[in-house]
Amino acid sequence: METTHRFLEGDASDLGALDDGSIDLVVTSPPYPMIEMWDDAFAAQDPGIGDALAGDDAWRAFDAMHAILDRAWQAVHRVLAPGGLACVDIGDATRTLGDRFALYPNHARALAGLRAAGFAPLPAILWRKPTNAPSKFMGSGMLPPGAYVTLEHEVVLVVRKGDKRAFASDAARRTRRRSAYFWEERNAWFSDVWTDLRGTGQALDKGSDRARSGAFPFELPYRLVQMFSVIGDTVLDPFAGTGTTLLAAAASGRHSVGVDRVGALADTARERLADVAAIGRARVDSRLDAHRTFVRARHAERGAFGYRSARYGFPVVTKQEVDLELVRPHGVSIDPDGATRVTNDTTPPADESDAWAWFFDDVRSEARPSRS
Ligand SMILES: C[S@@+](CC[C@H](N)C(=O)[O-])C[C@H]1O[C@@H](n2cnc3c(N)ncnc32)[C@H](O)[C@@H]1O
Repeated sequence: METTHRFLEGDASDLGALDDGSIDLVVTSPPYPMIEMWDDAFAAQDPGIGDALAGDDAWRAFDAMHAILDRAWQAVHRVLAPGGLACVDIGDATRTLGDRFALYPNHARALAGLRAAGFAPLPAILWRKPTNAPSKFMGSGMLPPGAYVTLEHEVVLVVRKGDKRAFASDAARRTRRRSAYFWEERNAWFSDVWTDLRGTGQALDKGSDRARSGAFPFELPYRLVQMFSVIGDTVLDPFAGTGTTLLAAAASGRHSVGVDRVGALADTARERLADVAAIGRARVDSRLDAHRTFVRARHAERGAFGYRSARYGFPVVTKQEVDLELVRPHGVSIDPDGATRVTNDTTPPADESDAWAWFFDDVRSEARPSRS
């Protein structure tokens, strides 16, 4: 099985190279309005933004920046297939402009733009970044009421185009079952607060006039890809940056397309994709290891499991996990047109099934496991 990954220079508000309904999932993080590092990028797209900022007219700048994002949400709605989801990671901004400090509520305003584009909001995820720096607090220290609450989270908005996606054929239903995740992953990933993802290094040394990329950590799009798409789907990031979403899709047996107005970032994205075999296999191994650990702990605590994985031979909690396959990226090549092609391998570790024979013997004899 092969997947392809393309990085296109272009504008998210147009997505002209993409056909209507050709995308199954969008995972993205736009430039955040009123965060200073994005002022120039917004002003380059609407000179009125530069004027508003220079004149300390903060709310006019905020509205004009979101007007740019609104056009992107409309284009995203056009290219998504019915039932497709869009996940938009965005942080609010705090800023002092012309002596006036304010919060700029990007996540609320972006959700309004997504709704206006036709999307239905679904429950969102609060991504709370672990930090304990004492310097994070703003305002007048210990003297009420002049200190400000610290912004330590971003929001991953989740919206859907139309009704639930249909899996009409036997083949489509089988692919969906192969794309399942573990029960214990469901319990962690589908919580509405994520506290275990750290931010990532953002230095950009080439391909951009910016010093920082604004990249999100690999695990963020990786999880969203498992949660909201199936093997063989096409994932789009219309604000692709360094291509983290493309890497997550490539590590998961999904195709991907990235669009960014800075075309030079294509080289960075391609270099990252070149490492997908090592990155993807490490992530699959860590998921399998976590599941083995979970099985032992749950077995010791609660005894028998109801089901066994057809592919791996280990126990699983629910029937929905029986056909689960974790796709392992294998080889990478570059097409003449610059697209990255990834081959995948879904062969389970050879001795996995035998390795669990003790467990099922143990369940049959209703004894506790003799191995740790
Ligand atoms: C927050 S960064 C995305 C970072 C990305 N998630 C990553 O992990 O590297 C936002 C990106 O949007 C791009 N951008 C800004 N305006 C755009 C537009 N109108 N169309 C497409 N890309 C745009 C910027 O060049 C930047 O790379």
